[in-house]
Amino acid sequence: MEINEYDYYNNLANWSFDDINYIEEVFTNWIYEEKIKEHTNKFSKILDLGTAAGEKVLKNFPDCAEILGTDFSIEMIKSANQNLINSRRKNITFRVMNNLKMDTPNNYFDLVTARHTKINPTQIYKTLKPGGCLILRGVDKLDCWELKYMFKKGQAYKDLKPISLIDYENILDAGFENVELVPIHIREYYKTKEDFLALLLKTPILTGFSEENENNNLKLDIDMALLDKYINSHKTNKGILLIRRYYGITAKKNH
Ligand SMILES: C[S@@+](CC[C@H](N)C(=O)[O-])C[C@H]1O[C@@H](n2cnc3c(N)ncnc32)[C@H](O)[C@@H]1O
Repeated sequence: MEINEYDYYNNLANWSFDDINYIEEVFTNWIYEEKIKEHTNKFSKILDLGTAAGEKVLKNFPDCAEILGTDFSIEMIKSANQNLINSRRKNITFRVMNNLKMDTPNNYFDLVTARHTKINPTQIYKTLKPGGCLILRGVDKLDCWELKYMFKKGQAYKDLKPISLIDYENILDAGFENVELVPIHIREYYKTKEDFLALLLKTPILTGFSEENENNNLKLDIDMALLDKYINSHKTNKGILLIRRYYGITAKKNH
């Protein structure tokens, strides 16, 4: 079965992994949530792009003057607004917006954040105040590489240029300065096959999106014999090992 990116996220309507039993070991000293705290004070105005159901904003973002979380999926934003009511947090709003057609005001935000979502650095640059900052975390080409290599497919598998480099160059071209690109290396251990499969069914790791894939459709079928082969060769006493490769970028709009 094939499904496009919008319908994929709209059908999910949340980006919570609370039901999946896994632990992680982080090897890189670049923690997205800490970077956001370092760049926030009580007067800050923050825009979070591709916010999903607001899970990260509501749980990890510090209190400040204003946080706007946006997502192109109507269903994600419906869930975000429900989560907002349950959280009782103040100064936060969620609304629908496409990251590639941003309609936020120019020179308005002190910080724009984007975690595992598409971005347009030129539009982000416009909406930031001079002195403002962009903090993003992405999923790099070599994420889960052994698994994708075994299946000969998956997120960014066929991309010629790593997404981290595409983002890095586009951010420089948009006019940002002090741009820092940091590789993030994490090991995850999934308790059971069911937990591992739940991850693969919820994320585009094996099924999905590519810079090279024009219509950006996902194929949602997983070869279970290959999956068992991967699981059998990656069983450890901590669980089924999956090696993650993310990247973090911080960038300043100085003028
Ligand atoms: C992988 S999830 C990440 C969610 C959240 N940022 C996090 O880290 O937990 C990607 C989110 O980006 C949204 N998204 C993807 N492309 C988008 C676009 N062009 N404009 C706005 N949102 C987009 C999806 O709907 C989805 O909610």
